[in-house]
Amino acid sequence: MIMEKILILDFGGQYNQLIARKVREQHVYAEIRSYHRISPRDVRSAGYKGIIFTGGPNSVYENSSPHYDPAILEAGIPLLGICYGAQLICHMAGGEVSGAEDHSEYGKVSLRCRKSDLFEEVPLESSCWMSHRDRIVRIPDGFRVTARTKRCPCAAMENPAKKIYAVQFHPEVTHTEYGEQIFHNFLFKICGCKGDWHPDEFAERQIEKYKKELSGKRVLLALSGGVDSSVAAVLLHRAIGHDLVCVFVDHGLLRKDEGDYVEKVLKKELGVNLVRVDAGKEFLEKLAGITDPEQKRRIIGEEFIRVFEKEAGKQGDIHVLAQGTIYPDLIESGKGDSAVIKSHHNVGGLPEKMSFDHIAEPLKDLFKDEVRKVGTTLGIPEDLVRRQPFPGPGLAVRVMGEVTEEKLEILRDADAIFREEIKKAHLEQETDQYFAVLTDSFSVGVKGDARVYGYVVALRAVTTDDFMTADWTKLPYGLLEKVSSRIVNEVRGVSRVVYDITSKPPATVEWE
Ligand code: XMP
Repeated sequence: MIMEKILILDFGGQYNQLIARKVREQHVYAEIRSYHRISPRDVRSAGYKGIIFTGGPNSVYENSSPHYDPAILEAGIPLLGICYGAQLICHMAGGEVSGAEDHSEYGKVSLRCRKSDLFEEVPLESSCWMSHRDRIVRIPDGFRVTARTKRCPCAAMENPAKKIYAVQFHPEVTHTEYGEQIFHNFLFKICGCKGDWHPDEFAERQIEKYKKELSGKRVLLALSGGVDSSVAAVLLHRAIGHDLVCVFVDHGLLRKDEGDYVEKVLKKELGVNLVRVDAGKEFLEKLAGITDPEQKRRIIGEEFIRVFEKEAGKQGDIHVLAQGTIYPDLIESGKGDSAVIKSHHNVGGLPEKMSFDHIAEPLKDLFKDEVRKVGTTLGIPEDLVRRQPFPGPGLAVRVMGEVTEEKLEILRDADAIFREEIKKAHLEQETDQYFAVLTDSFSVGVKGDARVYGYVVALRAVTTDDFMTADWTKLPYGLLEKVSSRIVNEVRGVSRVVYDITSKPPATVEWE
């Protein structure tokens, strides 16, 4: 069966991934392609049910701005332009866009719309999210205006005969009250989609595909214990069983009991062929005396490659490498649909020297929440599938200054208490990443009758959508009090606990 799909033609907008997710939430598969990487001819032959032109930071009337072949308007494929995409459609079809006066509109504004297939079941008055400087000042022939705001006389226009629709506002942003309905109308009413995209069926299809594609081949996967590589491992294990060899390099910088947990779930419970390499001692030796965070990262990356290569060598000839690359990784690294070694994934990427005939990336079309759904259908426990992100260099960037076993132990214990209390309070879904940091500061305290001089532990919890910006999570005082009291009382060598209340920017999520 050929799956129906929507093309999101990328003109550099900041919400493009969000558009794809909104479409997929309606069970229609969407893929993002840069406008200069796909020709109208290829668009036509790929069989898309509809096209969405994204926003972008440019002005259409400037020659250097991204443009597209107007032939696309005649392709007979339903088209929805958003923000810059709307202005581009106007420009391509012979209308006029202007930035001459200040037409800018930012934030939530009131929208008045007229009857239109795109606005079915959208009330006459609603609110939408605007973010634009230029605006449409003259619509092209054959179009009609279907919505306006106070400052924008053409907030939407359409040519229903050609199935071309354009909105100046952003339906993908939650502040647009009826954004979901608008996507629904476009996808089902205008493009005639049925909604055949389901992540769990996708998993079954991938298993069947890899059964055929990798039959008789041995495959190597570097497993970090994070969500992506674990789900990729289980999926491929279902396809080819023990021909998949997962090498799990335990660099000794994991959280308390983490290595054992990953091994227990994947190897013992799910039967994955997993080789765990305990290399903590080697990593610590390499890190001795190192205090600069970037140098720590580099050393860990290099050591990871060395250990991985050595272990892979022991496995005999393997010509296929599997990776837990997910869709945002490919988009962020600007590689679109091409298979690339995931350089920023986990610890520093994989050995360039190792040559593989083939790279298998079973999750490369999925967003994180979809990967989680696939993980659940594959029977991976929720604790693993819902894991918060954990940096590849691990606790080395949460121990300020030099990394030693003693400091790691203190941090592991403090961090375990923090995580345990968050879990007990059922707050795991209220914060996106939370951890303890062992600062390099000491402070005076009193334990019993004695004066102590111990480490300051910092707690960090952030709320974020994409980790590019983040707010500190307003955890309840009672919880912080309990965590602080437990850490100071139960963890040797800690005299004080502080809570980090800095947002990103200006701070980063990690302390190093
Ligand atoms: P920052 O500290 O840059 O973190 O605000 C944003 C997100 O990235 C994670 N992070 C890393 N992940 N290797 C990784 O694999 C790294 O070196 C690294 N540094 C930060 C961080 O945990 C957060 O989720």
